[in-house]
Amino acid sequence: MTQGVIATLVYRNETTKAEFARLISGAKAGFVAIPVGANEVLSEKIRESGCQVVIFEAGDDVGIDVHQLQLLSREFPKTEFFACHPSPDVDTFRTFMRAGVRDVFSLPPAERDVVRELDRIADSVAGESDQHNGKVISIINSKSGSGATTLAVNLACDLAEMDENLKVALVDMDIQFGSVSLYLDVKWQSNVMEAFSQSARLDGTMLKSMMSQHDSGVSALPAPLKITRLDRVSAMDVKKFLEAARESFDVIVLDLPRVINEWTEEVLRSSDSIYMVIQRSLAVIRDARLLTTYFHSAGISDDKVTIVDNRYRSKHAAVTDKQIQETLRIERIVRIANDYDTAIGSQERGVPLSRYARSSRLAKDLNSLSQAVLFELTGEERESGGFLDRLMGRQ
Ligand SMILES: Nc1ncnc2c1ncn2[C@@H]1O[C@H](COP(=O)(O)OP(=O)(O)OP(=O)(O)O)[C@@H](O)[C@H]1O
Ligand SMILES: [Mg+2]
Repeated sequence: MTQGVIATLVYRNETTKAEFARLISGAKAGFVAIPVGANEVLSEKIRESGCQVVIFEAGDDVGIDVHQLQLLSREFPKTEFFACHPSPDVDTFRTFMRAGVRDVFSLPPAERDVVRELDRIADSVAGESDQHNGKVISIINSKSGSGATTLAVNLACDLAEMDENLKVALVDMDIQFGSVSLYLDVKWQSNVMEAFSQSARLDGTMLKSMMSQHDSGVSALPAPLKITRLDRVSAMDVKKFLEAARESFDVIVLDLPRVINEWTEEVLRSSDSIYMVIQRSLAVIRDARLLTTYFHSAGISDDKVTIVDNRYRSKHAAVTDKQIQETLRIERIVRIANDYDTAIGSQERGVPLSRYARSSRLAKDLNSLSQAVLFELTGEERESGGFLDRLMGRQ
């Protein structure tokens, strides 16, 4: 898969060399190791190797490494530089990112991280564009409590777990009452308002350094802990934010507040797809109708809207399938089972449903939806069994 890629490691420790040699050769990429030394020596050997990737082992003085990396990346603008460090904290991470490295690997290196980067570079070597242009998926509810955050969190985690090469971001844009940070147990380091407030200089690398990692592989950014006035965000802030996010991620799942203003309209317009979460009650359907009508007036095409019929029960529904179709006039409707104990259980423990109750109907329905999304993103079906039919209720 990574054939054609040559990675050069500039190392300080024999153990680091042995670990990368095992991972990189195991991934069938070419591997060259050079002991750290003067820049002239390094640049000559890097040129000789013909590599597309340089991994630089950091020493005790990050300042010297950064200087050396800046010189090398200037000399080899087409080469991707990575750093590796025993325990990169946020400051180390940011410092290296600003020096032009694409990512900082922890030591010992995680196979998944290294191979993912090599795969991506192999794709661009194979002639594909190496410009990232991630897809933005917005999740919005039509009435508070319909299940938007449940969907956003589980969709993002499922996507990252199903395809470890996919760079998945989860962003809580519900800046007043966001609950992503409750539903996922992560050591948070920053929040979405901090990113918005830096929008003038925000780029993909900086955004990535503000995000926190969840075990599933998702990079997540929570809402602030205090209620923030909605008018503190501008349409330009979110525009810049989304540009940065598209640069660094393949897919960006946004948990949106149920608010229409300049910046949420900007988000909805820029989204590649919108999932509107409803439940089967007249009041919810009425609000969903208001939203779909607004989408039309804002020029947001029906083609990118999917209705998520959450907490679905085959009996006792006050509203029928036909009524939903006729009222909302959206063709794509998917169903998610009603299972409060499982939903609340996973959220109280801060784990996604795939970890908490993988075999529950609820986790399976959400996973089927995630598979359909993944299929749209990559064109690859992960499991047989007609997930699209299952989702549309045509079992
Ligand atoms: N399919 C489901 N079955 C049962 N309970 C569910 C389901 N989906 C979500 N819930 C529960 O409904 C409640 C609201 O869910 P969630 O927070 O995802 O909704 P929301 O639309 O994001 O709400 P908010 O308006 O607060 O942002 C939670 O207690 C959650 O556990
Ligand atoms: Mg929510």
